[in-house]
Amino acid sequence: MRRELLQGSLIVTVALTAARAWTYPDYARTTKVACAGCHVNPAGGADLTDAGKLFKTDHAKVPKAVPGAAYAGIGRCKLCHARQYTSWQKTKHAQALANLKSADPKAVEAMAHALQVELEGPPAEAAQCVKCHVTGFELEGGYPAADSLRNAALENVTCEACHGPGSKHASAPLAEKKKLIHRGVTANTCMQCHTRQTSPKFKFEEYKKLGVHALRP
Ligand code: HEC
Ligand code: HEC
Ligand code: HEC
Ligand code: HEC
Ligand code: HEC
Repeated sequence: MRRELLQGSLIVTVALTAARAWTYPDYARTTKVACAGCHVNPAGGADLTDAGKLFKTDHAKVPKAVPGAAYAGIGRCKLCHARQYTSWQKTKHAQALANLKSADPKAVEAMAHALQVELEGPPAEAAQCVKCHVTGFELEGGYPAADSLRNAALENVTCEACHGPGSKHASAPLAEKKKLIHRGVTANTCMQCHTRQTSPKFKFEEYKKLGVHALRP
């Protein structure tokens, strides 16, 4: 009886999630193809390559692996974008992993319940939780990285969680830069993490005012 109930609610959850949650960047996790395999811009975005368009119509047609961009880390972005960096630091995104470490046990329990996750250790060590509280989880050059210094640069929800992996943008000549980073970030990007379960009050226009760095007028 209990098992049936549980299965029933799992199916409902999956259906709801499928209706609302955005697939980005899960396509990269499941196919192991870099963003550039499907997107014109190596940091992702609205324009798809021919292989990406084919994949969109038939998910069995996985594009060939291509060399892509990696997650460069917050330190790189800060070097040239001090204004956005200072303003980002004041958002909750800048403390997303630290807050997970120091979270009130009641809040942890509520989130685990909402996500139907059974926690066995600290949430900051559980993949099911860390996933949305860091940058580029399990993606090429993303968190967890091979060494702790790079991990530190990918903790929390940093620039590249919204603008995509930026290693190519960071090192490109000026004339190429705009083509190599995801601009025009939409609600779909937020909704990979702000799902019905984790963020029931999410509204793009309202959340944008608090969760995004100061924007050009
Ligand atoms: C195997 C193909 C594939 C890969 C790899 C892939 N994507 Fe996508 N992505 C798509 C498709 C297809 C869409 C269009 C939406 C849909 O049909 O689900 C999309 C949509 C998006 C969007 C939404 C654009 C909007 O409407 O705002 C973003 C952002 C994005 N992808 C970023 C990324 C990033 C970043 C990576 C790499 C970490 C990545 N994608 C890897 C196929 C892919
Ligand atoms: C070496 C300096 C440098 C580094 C490092 C760098 N950027 Fe940039 N970025 C620029 C410049 C310069 C432009 C403007 C290019 C232009 O106007 O054509 C730019 C443009 C952008 C834009 C588009 C702005 C617009 O007008 O729409 C975004 C988004 C961005 N950078 C994000 C990032 C992120 C995220 C990182 C870290 C991965 C990063 N940048 C690292 C120099 C840099
Ligand atoms: C799908 C992405 C996602 C996953 C997975 C996730 N979180 Fe979060 N978490 C979020 C978002 C988004 C917010 C901010 C929600 C808001 O304020 O609207 C958040 C906020 C929180 C907060 C602050 C809530 C508060 O009431 O102050 C805690 C604590 C938290 N998460 C713990 C966890 C734990 C524990 C897990 C694992 C069981 C987890 N999260 C897994 C996306 C996620
Ligand atoms: C929560 C998502 C999010 C994060 C995190 C984020 N940005 Fe943005 N960023 C946006 C949105 C949304 C816009 C406005 C639409 C667009 O241009 O993509 C934007 C615009 C920009 C622009 C264009 C200039 C402007 O003011 O409109 C630059 C440059 C930029 N971001 C750099 C950064 C850097 C550097 C970081 C990290 C310090 C960062 N962003 C973190 C969402 C984000
Ligand atoms: C990689 C996952 C991720 C992405 C992408 C993301 N967020 Fe978040 N966001 C979080 C997490 C996790 C928190 C909770 C941080 C905390 O309280 O410690 C959060 C918190 C917030 C908050 C603070 C809510 C509160 O209760 O005060 C706002 C506002 C917000 N996000 C807006 C946005 C917007 C707008 C976008 C897209 C442009 C976006 N986020 C993209 C994970 C994400």
